[in-house]
Amino acid sequence: MAVIAKYCPNIEIKVVDINQERIDAWNNSNLNKLPIFEPGLSEIINNVREKNLEFTTNLVDSIKEADMVFISVNTPIKQNGIGAGQTSDLRWVEACARQISEIAIGHTIVVEKSTLPVRTAKTIKEILFATNDNNQQNKSFSVLSNPEFLAEGTAINDLENPDRVLIGGEDKEAMLSLKQVYLNWVKEDKIIFTNLWSSELSKLCANAFLAQRISSINSISALCEVTGANIGEVANAVGQDSRIGNKFLKTGPGFGGSCFKKDILNLVYLSRFYGLDEVADYWEKIIEINSWQKMRIYEQIVKNLFGNLVDKKIGILGFAFKANTNDTRESPAIDICKNLINEGAFLSIHDYKVSKENISTILSKENNKNWEYVFDVYEVFNSSDAVVILTEWEGYKNLNWNEIALKTKRPFWIFDTRAILRPEELKKINLNLWQIGNGYQIN
Ligand SMILES: NC(=O)c1ccc[n+]([C@@H]2O[C@H](COP(=O)([O-])OP(=O)(O)OC[C@H]3O[C@@H](n4cnc5c(N)ncnc54)[C@H](O)[C@@H]3O)[C@@H](O)[C@H]2O)c1
Repeated sequence: MAVIAKYCPNIEIKVVDINQERIDAWNNSNLNKLPIFEPGLSEIINNVREKNLEFTTNLVDSIKEADMVFISVNTPIKQNGIGAGQTSDLRWVEACARQISEIAIGHTIVVEKSTLPVRTAKTIKEILFATNDNNQQNKSFSVLSNPEFLAEGTAINDLENPDRVLIGGEDKEAMLSLKQVYLNWVKEDKIIFTNLWSSELSKLCANAFLAQRISSINSISALCEVTGANIGEVANAVGQDSRIGNKFLKTGPGFGGSCFKKDILNLVYLSRFYGLDEVADYWEKIIEINSWQKMRIYEQIVKNLFGNLVDKKIGILGFAFKANTNDTRESPAIDICKNLINEGAFLSIHDYKVSKENISTILSKENNKNWEYVFDVYEVFNSSDAVVILTEWEGYKNLNWNEIALKTKRPFWIFDTRAILRPEELKKINLNLWQIGNGYQIN
């Protein structure tokens, strides 16, 4: 919405959330206190907040005044009942549809922006049109699907220069209205019209394909380690093939973020629902490889530290699921840190953008005495037995290892799960390195 506000000064936008604390944070005059860290976002907010972008909890007036309402609420995996652990919990989407149905006046275009299981638009339509007094108040609705393809960490650039904008629907006029909004900064040939179900399915499918690439390269990273190959070299050679392409071929500790796992689970659930078990099994494997990658990294750490982590201090570099975001949802760091604490290790955790409070909520059950949070990256090395690089923050790529070597215990192990270090440098200072996907003997 910040990007729409930037490029469409004539459109008045209200971001409504029922969470007062979040809205207060979005309105904070200190731009460092916005709830989400995203490169370039605070600058845009600063420019549009007093103009055509407002953050509010006033749901009623915002819906009444709106010509178009984007439903962008959370759609996490259902915890209980039928489809638990597999399909999305649609209670927040349903609540939105009910609110819009009751409050809206005149004609309202309702846009699905949340990522949703295929055929959710049907549910939304049924709720919208079911309100008893629809006719009396002269209400009417059009439902469109307009999934969001941005990636956290590069969201502003992704929104300003999208590969495509997808608009699914049945009402041509409504589709053209939404297209008109995007035409303020997106070229016409990048705006695609489809039917509702293709649009909903395309979003799930795009995320599944992206996650599949990560699981593919991660599975090959394990093979590199045992055969003497190097994953960077393999990825480069494979990615030069224009049919394959060179993006999304970086190995790591597994994918995280709120979307990939949830969207694949939705695809799996949908496939099983329609009796397509082979399709479901195929996509389920992507998630299995992802869990296995996290587990095998943890096992490597324990194995190299002589099978025992009791009374050992391990530095953790990075808790966010990837660089340039403060999002920790489904971060591989969560499972890996919990397992290390469970083995008896004491963790010293650093991240450039994730707060201590956030980590505390995640690791609380693991007893706060088993970990500390440090602001200075070099502090994690004080009398440590090992360090694990879990997020590819730029700052971790250029650490002064000569200085670090003076602070640590010996033997000292570095576990580079992002393949961002240069092994030759570390060899000179005699530090042990385990690097993901690197089959060359380092020490
Ligand atoms: N985060 C991403 O990078 C990303 C990318 C593409 C698509 N999506 C999709 O977008 C959707 C939202 O994701 P998110 O990461 O922003 O989730 P989020 O949980 O961070 O935010 C959702 C917000 O909706 C609010 N909310 C819930 N019910 C409400 C209601 N009835 N009225 C007003 N506000 C309400 C919540 O308070 C919360 O602040 C999901 O479906 C997700 O799959 C997210």
